[in-house]
Amino acid sequence: MNDVSVQFTLNGAPKQALVPPNLLLVDFLRDREQLKGAKIGCSRGVCGACTVLIDGVPVAACSAFTFQVDGRSVLTVEGLAQGAEATAATGWSQRY
Ligand code: FES
Repeated sequence: MNDVSVQFTLNGAPKQALVPPNLLLVDFLRDREQLKGAKIGCSRGVCGACTVLIDGVPVAACSAFTFQVDGRSVLTVEGLAQGAEATAATGWSQRY
């Protein structure tokens, strides 16, 4: 199978990659992007350990292929943490 090109937003940054069509999103995130926040638990879309937000909707990354996020926005727990830190820092600086 030929690799497919995907372009999407990952934690607020543009991302482009060539991926095998059968590459699971959780494997792309963990193995290629070193984003280990999405864990592999049941690998069946049941436990929620691999949950990411795709266009704001929770999705089991173990049940989605990477090519399916083409043109979409993916937010991992690492991206959520960055946003929380920025919010906390802004709130802190505004208050003090
Ligand atoms: S690993 Fe359990 S839902 Fe994905």
